[in-house]
Amino acid sequence: MLVSAIVFLLLALPWTFAPDGQTHASWQQFLGRFHPLAVHLPIGLLLLVPVLEIGGRIRPSLREAAGFVLGCAAICSIGAVVLGILLAHGGGFAKEAVRGHMWAGLILTIAVITCTLLRSSWITGQSSFLYPVVLLAVLALTAWTGHQGGALTYGKTYLTEFAPTFIKQLGPHKTYPSVDPVSVYVTRIQPILDSNCITCHSGAKVKGGLQLDTYAHLMDGGSSDEDIVASHPEKSLLFTRITLPTDHPKLMPSEGKPPLTPKDIAWIRAWIQQGASPSSTTLVGMELKPAHTDDPIPQVGDYSGLTSQIEQIESTLGIKLDRVSARAADGLVLRTIGVSQKFSDADLAKLEPFAPYIVDAELGHTRVTDNSFAILAKMSHLRAIHLEETPIDGRNLKQLTSLSELRYLNLSSTKVTKQALNDITPLKTLQHIYTYNTPAAPVPVP
Ligand code: HEC
Repeated sequence: MLVSAIVFLLLALPWTFAPDGQTHASWQQFLGRFHPLAVHLPIGLLLLVPVLEIGGRIRPSLREAAGFVLGCAAICSIGAVVLGILLAHGGGFAKEAVRGHMWAGLILTIAVITCTLLRSSWITGQSSFLYPVVLLAVLALTAWTGHQGGALTYGKTYLTEFAPTFIKQLGPHKTYPSVDPVSVYVTRIQPILDSNCITCHSGAKVKGGLQLDTYAHLMDGGSSDEDIVASHPEKSLLFTRITLPTDHPKLMPSEGKPPLTPKDIAWIRAWIQQGASPSSTTLVGMELKPAHTDDPIPQVGDYSGLTSQIEQIESTLGIKLDRVSARAADGLVLRTIGVSQKFSDADLAKLEPFAPYIVDAELGHTRVTDNSFAILAKMSHLRAIHLEETPIDGRNLKQLTSLSELRYLNLSSTKVTKQALNDITPLKTLQHIYTYNTPAAPVPVP
């Protein structure tokens, strides 16, 4: 009787506290935020149950303990699910992934309660198989629900990011057209995200499950699948979140960081509106520096003869040398994402044979140091270099002055000094240089 009342109340929760995308009372958010902490207790207890049941075959006292632990797990699960629903309702989470996780947690809790009931008939020998079967189902459901919760917090690719390729291919995965190093995305959009967002949305910090360091991550979205809805800025959560009133708690960048400038917002709006493309090089209504957009794109040499060497180095180093386009003479993009944390000067040096063909070096978050500028200088067709969050201090930056096509240089979150930057003033082609969060950053205007 009591049990059915509890189950009934639990089932009523998703309607009473529907996750409707609005934020609600702060007591709900306060309590709700204990959910990530609270869930670990029932998980631990549930895993203990089969251990105790099996151990109970040898020591009957353990079997008695199993019943007690299962009861505790049921009570804790109820607590965790209530906190979870308060978190979703109070915090304004409304997306499919959140709802899925909520229902999985609710069903899990009801299954645990069922398990405790079935156990008594199992002990008395009335039914010999129902309890073990439901217990197994509970364990499987625990793993699934936990995984969903993890994906909400750390991003959908958290578990598989460093997995061997064959494992990655098991799961659903999207592929995206390749990014053009001279596209609006690379020259205008990613730099805005690099300077304003990636401190909380890349690497170890994946707030809202959303990574903003690459095109693929951006399009994958976070706990919402609608961070970018191509052609519809007003439906894109990312756009909504950067255009909220300045005192709104959900405004991005959060924590009182300065909001994006109207110009940055206009660029993001136009880019989403016109298809959120990784390769288009113009946006209607937005003025790109005409002198450069009219430049014919310089051609690099033909690397088609090197295909097998390229494949080999890709698998040795775990990097990618993606072609910019189908034409070999358009060059290669070096990507280190996935191995960035171990990618070092020595690894970059191994790419020397391909140096003349690389037009974009994505070395952000890697371990490369100032010693790598010598090899970068050999990449004579480089147009973009990403060095954000690397250990460099810029002492060898002057070696880059030979790069006559360099347009984009990201040095954010490095130790680069003003002095070092002076060394590259001869680089006249450079249009975008990012020094956010470095000793060389301009003093913010109050
Ligand atoms: C100081 C840290 C911080 C910075 C900087 C920051 N964010 Fe966030 N962001 C968060 C946190 C925390 C969340 C998760 C809670 C929430 O949704 O409010 C989040 C969530 C989001 C979400 C919702 C993701 C989803 O799928 O639910 C979007 C979109 C977003 N941020 C965009 C941005 C953009 C764009 C920028 C840069 C202009 C930015 N953020 C900068 C902390 C930050």
